[in-house]
Amino acid sequence: MQNSLFPPDFVWGAATSAYQIEGAAQEDGKGVSIWDTFCRQSGAIENGDLGDIACDHYHRLDSDLDLIKSLGLDAYRFSISWPRVQPLGKGAWNQPGLAFYDRLVDGLLERGLAPHVTLYHWDLPQALQDVGGWANRDTAYRFAEYAQTMAQRLGDRVVSIATHNEPFVAAMLGNLFGLHAPGFKDLQTASQVTHHLLLSHGLAIQAMRSAGSKVPLGIVLNLSPATPATTSEADKQKAEQTFGFVGRLFLDPLFKGSYPEIAGPEPLPEIDIQTGDMEIIRQPIDFLGINYYFREWCSASTPPAPVPCSLGKTEMGWEIYPEGLYELLTDIHRTYSLPPVFITENGMAANDVLLEGAIHDSKRIEYIDLHLKALAKAIAEGVDVRGYFYWSLMDNFEWSYGFGKRFGLIHIDYQTQLRTLKDSAVWYRNYIQRERSGAKQKEATL
Ligand code: FCB
Repeated sequence: MQNSLFPPDFVWGAATSAYQIEGAAQEDGKGVSIWDTFCRQSGAIENGDLGDIACDHYHRLDSDLDLIKSLGLDAYRFSISWPRVQPLGKGAWNQPGLAFYDRLVDGLLERGLAPHVTLYHWDLPQALQDVGGWANRDTAYRFAEYAQTMAQRLGDRVVSIATHNEPFVAAMLGNLFGLHAPGFKDLQTASQVTHHLLLSHGLAIQAMRSAGSKVPLGIVLNLSPATPATTSEADKQKAEQTFGFVGRLFLDPLFKGSYPEIAGPEPLPEIDIQTGDMEIIRQPIDFLGINYYFREWCSASTPPAPVPCSLGKTEMGWEIYPEGLYELLTDIHRTYSLPPVFITENGMAANDVLLEGAIHDSKRIEYIDLHLKALAKAIAEGVDVRGYFYWSLMDNFEWSYGFGKRFGLIHIDYQTQLRTLKDSAVWYRNYIQRERSGAKQKEATL
């Protein structure tokens, strides 16, 4: 019998996001998002893929909910497509879009699954991008209105609302590296976008609270520990700069109310920060969601010291490093006074092959198992982690990589939309069951 590693009320889930699975990109009054636009730029996405159909989840909602149920999960994390519910990002609301999320939430509840909502997983209404997007301060106020409406609409039924998913990725991949929508390569823009995303988070929390929302509210960050390759000063400095850029640039404003002095190799450019902004950003929140995939390996030498990769790499080329989850959690637990944490994403892309109706993804099973062990170790050392969501429930549109990268517990055949549980899905279901009964027994003997 498995020794339970997690508290009895620990939440077991899986996650997705709207643009990556829904499809129905031009149906029922949905507005255009920046990802609808970006995918149509030549060369933006591998293979010319786009999310118009994706997993066709919009049309397969009920059977997908049954599948989630069949995995024995407690909870499901999904995001709302802003342009589906408010096509232009301001003004009129789209009733069929709102009705879709009502059905999703009700369908989860009917099946005994807890809905965890993310308001922004990168699909900004194109109409707002046309007037500057997140570089325009006004977008932060539009976002707060959207958040308030969604909290009023769903707040009586969902169990958590996160404002943003990975503002680092939205700001930097979208505006500095040009890899995500809207596809810019400009540090000034990316820095201003960073500030406005954070500001919009604070404004949204205020707006949802002022509307009487009692639902736990938070934000989701992608975080990586930064490991110096050697003990040299240069490598240590590089690690400090790297964590400043990917971690502290977001953690410090949220939990300390100021930007870090070191937020990358160079000082950030001058941006528009208005009086009172930092107070707004530093709103108390009820939870922090953390997405963990890899560590940052920091080597200042040329050529850089190779990444160890003792457990290998995923199909994304990311080092498999479960210990990093432990290192990250215990480190930020020491530095910040954190609210309860959820691991809102963790998972791997693998070269999954459907053979005679089965996918034997043993590497993924090992990946999850090792990350859960590292997570349990952090919990045992006092980090307050309340749940774990595997990324992703099903294979989906992996942004600039298109459909080539498969992260799911459920395999999707994009030709037929056939869903097949991978071995990892069955393993995860059994793991959760054993954990639950182990935890109950442990409680009973205490
Ligand atoms: C995260 C994103 C998620 C997915 C995974 C692999 O950065 O939040 O949508 O792409 O990476």
